[in-house]
Amino acid sequence: MKYIELFAGIGGFRLGLENTRRDRLHDKERGKKEPNGETRLGFDCVWANEWDKYACQIYRKHFGEIDSRDLRDVPTDEIPDHDLLVGGFPCQSFSIAGKRGGFEDTRGTMFYEIARIANYHQPMFLLLENVKGLVSHDKGKSLEIILEKLQELGYYTNYEVYNSKEYGIPQNRERIFFLCTHIKGLDGTNQKIASSRKIITEWLFQVLLNNLSEARKLQGHASKDWVLGYLICQEIKQSQNLKERNIVGGIIPPVESNMSLFGGSEVWRNIDTWLLKNLGESSKELNISTISTAIKRIIASKTYTFSRMFLAILFATVLLRKSSGHLWSEVLLDLMVIKEGMNYARNSIQTKEAIITESGVMHFTKNLQDFSKYFACGHFGESCGQAVFPIGEIYQVGEGKAQIANTITSNYWKGPAGSRPIPTDGMRIRRLTPTECERLQGFPGGWTEGISDTQRYKCLGNAVTVNVIEALAGKVK
Ligand SMILES: C[S@@+](CC[C@H](N)C(=O)[O-])C[C@H]1O[C@@H](n2cnc3c(N)ncnc32)[C@H](O)[C@@H]1O
Repeated sequence: MKYIELFAGIGGFRLGLENTRRDRLHDKERGKKEPNGETRLGFDCVWANEWDKYACQIYRKHFGEIDSRDLRDVPTDEIPDHDLLVGGFPCQSFSIAGKRGGFEDTRGTMFYEIARIANYHQPMFLLLENVKGLVSHDKGKSLEIILEKLQELGYYTNYEVYNSKEYGIPQNRERIFFLCTHIKGLDGTNQKIASSRKIITEWLFQVLLNNLSEARKLQGHASKDWVLGYLICQEIKQSQNLKERNIVGGIIPPVESNMSLFGGSEVWRNIDTWLLKNLGESSKELNISTISTAIKRIIASKTYTFSRMFLAILFATVLLRKSSGHLWSEVLLDLMVIKEGMNYARNSIQTKEAIITESGVMHFTKNLQDFSKYFACGHFGESCGQAVFPIGEIYQVGEGKAQIANTITSNYWKGPAGSRPIPTDGMRIRRLTPTECERLQGFPGGWTEGISDTQRYKCLGNAVTVNVIEALAGKVK
């Protein structure tokens, strides 16, 4: 997968993605080329940009070339094609921008630069990082604008706050990550529906989180397939209440008399009925070819509103379920939710005895079946296909005696004060060394050697924690 790294700093994203490659490949496969020229299973960086002289020096030392121009001066067509765009962008106010329409509204901000590049190249995925404060920045308006612009560009976005301390790093560092998938990735053909699996799974995970209390009530009483159908019905109901901008041929809300349909046992048939209504009078049957046509029409329209994206993903979900029982049971297997600290994690590896979540935490299935402790139930491993929905709520990583450092910020070098992470060394209070900061950010010790300590602290404070990127990498592959 080809990717570009914007606001690259000292290469936190890149190191995280490269580590994934090293971990996952057996030695003999590493570096082998796929028929299309890509490195097998790997993430191939095709371009990186950063204007800070010292950060560039470190980046070059480890990875070779980096474009050091101001990103605002880089013509879009000079940037190579890519499937994934990664970058941590500054949190800026959009109020200066005024009303130009579309993502032009954000001109003057670094987010605009991301939107400009994404609009031209339309990579399948964007993985973006920002400070947690973005959620409340400008009374929530900044986040709203970002999500709206990403949607206009055709991206379905999941965002979550990740804390480094939950990823094997003793640093309390909360950052918001946006994982955006372009809906052009929804393939409306029966043969290629597997390619839609990623976006469908991401969406279903959100559906599940949005309706967690409903899901909890149902656990132990129904199959995963039924619960999921039921939760989608809840989501359809809720979607009717959401504020809609730019509705172009929006969805038809289910009329009051139809609402009872959603309570019945035939949940999936009810979803079909609702989708058929949205196709208009001419459609009599929701078969695979009707669904394919509907998905293709939405994608080709290039008018990406909430309702259209919702419909496209829902159509693709129904198509996947109708056309491949095998793929559908894999999606069901993936949809397991375990609460780890602040996040709800999905399982990444599953065996009969244990599941390992995206953050690398192992949960023994025998424990997950302890209802009193775990809010979980059902069968795992081989029998998972028919299992009920397991929802764990257990894990508090970071508890215990080990000390967790506060956030390392870019002005840490200014001297010890306030909330900065200060280790006590017997009676002495001292600053963390640059090497300690490197390790607290998931970099190998000595990563930033070669520039002054002041610059090392600054670069490390700006960087993304490498371990978090490693955990997120699996979501775009
Ligand atoms: C939050 S840091 C990202 C750090 C990076 N993710 C890492 O792991 O080291 C943002 C970076 O954007 C760079 N930057 C800000 N404005 C820029 C611009 N106009 N052109 C290029 N780089 C810029 C800054 O120098 C800074 O290194």
